[in-house]
Amino acid sequence: MSDSSELAGSAAVGEGIAHNARVWNYWLGGKDYYQVDRVVGDRVTGMYPSIREVARADRRFLGRAVRYLAGEAGVRQFLDIGTGLPTVHNTHEVAQEIAPQARIVYVDNDPVVLLHARALLTSSLEGATDYVDADARDPERILRAAAGTLDLSRPVGLILLGILNFVPDTEEATAVVRTLLAALPSGSHLVLTHPTLELGGEANAEAMEFWNAHATPPIVARGREDVARFFDGLELLEPGIVSCSRWRAGSGADEEPEVAQFGAVGRKP
Ligand SMILES: C[S@@+](CC[C@H](N)C(=O)[O-])C[C@H]1O[C@@H](n2cnc3c(N)ncnc32)[C@H](O)[C@@H]1O
Repeated sequence: MSDSSELAGSAAVGEGIAHNARVWNYWLGGKDYYQVDRVVGDRVTGMYPSIREVARADRRFLGRAVRYLAGEAGVRQFLDIGTGLPTVHNTHEVAQEIAPQARIVYVDNDPVVLLHARALLTSSLEGATDYVDADARDPERILRAAAGTLDLSRPVGLILLGILNFVPDTEEATAVVRTLLAALPSGSHLVLTHPTLELGGEANAEAMEFWNAHATPPIVARGREDVARFFDGLELLEPGIVSCSRWRAGSGADEEPEVAQFGAVGRKP
């Protein structure tokens, strides 16, 4: 059976179209995906073999950034938009290990993430977690819902990992970031990752074209300049906008392969 007929067969048995949250879970080695997600995930891996490494490096970056925020930076609240399916080392687990009183709001618009959201609501007794089923392109609604759990007059770690690439229009993506940051006080941080065709990611172009023909939601890559615009008005923390695998990766950094996914953290002055 050819891969394309396998794709058609999966749709015929009612599994529908591949969804990013489930394919991402497949690449991370999870088990919350359908056959159609595996088939599309494998086709993308065939065109862009380092995609699994990208997914894993992105999660390790999340861990390092949240540990820095909850530790050195003293941030006690997190708004994680485009959360993905629960996996190991979710934001609240990393943050509450350092600060048990940390409060976390997760946001995603995928129906399967919503089904599994209970696993994200296992807060420490001192802290809190909540899940909001909302679209990243509606930041006002997200802020209203988040205010039920977070005190938006105190610093928030705004986590946008692998999500703005699903807002294809750069002006709209920039406006989403602006609106969210405008509602947060000084001392808040933006934590962001974004796929790129730079950093050796040229092969990603073909894989993204295939993705956009066979899966949802459609994705775009961005260059360093566009990613830098998301940080306008923020103090970019060292080492700036780099491959997420190289962001404060410590002494093992040389062994971490550079992946075509920018990662950066900025502080609102
Ligand atoms: C690549 S995954 C990243 C998951 C997680 N942030 C991480 O870095 O491991 C992107 C997530 O964004 C979600 N997503 C995509 N478009 C979205 C939108 N418009 N609003 C909310 N969530 C969205 C997907 O459902 C998926 O769970």
